[in-house]
Amino acid sequence: MVAESRFGLIVHGGAGSLQRSMRKDIALRRQILRKSISEGYALLRKGGSSLDAVEASIRVLEDSGIFNAGSGSCTTIEGKVEPDAAVMLGDLSCGAVAGASMVSNPVSLARACMEKTDHVFIAGAEPLRKFARSIGFEIHDLEPNKMRLDQYEEYMKKMGAGELKEWPKNSALLGRYLGQEYGNLDTVGSVAIDADGKVCAGVSTGGRFVKLPGRVGDSPIPGAGLYADSSSGAACATGAGEEIIRVSLCKTVCDFMKNGLDAQAACDASISLLSKVRGVGVAGIIAVDLIGNYGLARNTEMMPVSIRFSYSKKALAVVLPEEYDVIYSEKERNLGKLKM
Ligand code: GLY
Repeated sequence: MVAESRFGLIVHGGAGSLQRSMRKDIALRRQILRKSISEGYALLRKGGSSLDAVEASIRVLEDSGIFNAGSGSCTTIEGKVEPDAAVMLGDLSCGAVAGASMVSNPVSLARACMEKTDHVFIAGAEPLRKFARSIGFEIHDLEPNKMRLDQYEEYMKKMGAGELKEWPKNSALLGRYLGQEYGNLDTVGSVAIDADGKVCAGVSTGGRFVKLPGRVGDSPIPGAGLYADSSSGAACATGAGEEIIRVSLCKTVCDFMKNGLDAQAACDASISLLSKVRGVGVAGIIAVDLIGNYGLARNTEMMPVSIRFSYSKKALAVVLPEEYDVIYSEKERNLGKLKM
């Protein structure tokens, strides 16, 4: 058992750029992040597991319709949703799903994959629909909401005009693929440590706008979109999945922690490595180490986060890039309490 005071979680609402359309939602995003952290933290305070806390915090974001996960998932190039999700524990238990459009909370289906099957990863709408039914999940087909449909139209227009830089090869393929002429980064995730010192990482995403059907990003891939290991800690990534997969970003963070870096130093080192090899504006990362330090780093303009640990006085919820100083001064204040 770690010192009783060192449990908590950090939740993110996706790394990316501050789009004009987001400005009107800032207060709402903050409110949802606060709800997410408070539901996860309430479970930890009652002695609940890091897995319960991570799942509960992500379900709030999936249900919000604002973040790119669950009911707020972005669309494929065909205007459909194909969400991915995963959870992973420090004992290396892991469950992941890709194309989970038939349930309201893909993160819970990922947890069921871990707990009720012998597999790590189940992909595809039809197999997942059968699996979800067989274990009593309510089937609820996710449809893109109005905000996502409007954004889809904009993306398609940009693609048609050759202005979408994120997917150059797909843009070239489009005419043939759709029979006509012709990225948004916003995943959600959570990492937690409970009063027993057990760590967990979880993630849920709609993927990236106008992705090809069947495309799977980093999120459900252990080592890329998430990783947890009882000899290092837990990490969760957000951003351009293709780049995150290439560098196994979350395994990198955990390896740095295993080699003695604290969560913040490991996040900084991993993002700096990513920036060197794949450039900036690509991804963000959150992590927790085994003594309850949290870390966060990004090379994107923003990555909304909320944080609550037992050694901090209150929850923090940061949405805008200029607000990050609050987190770093809070970290300074807690530094003494965090040293072993
Ligand atoms: N990071 C989410 C994705 O690329 O699918």
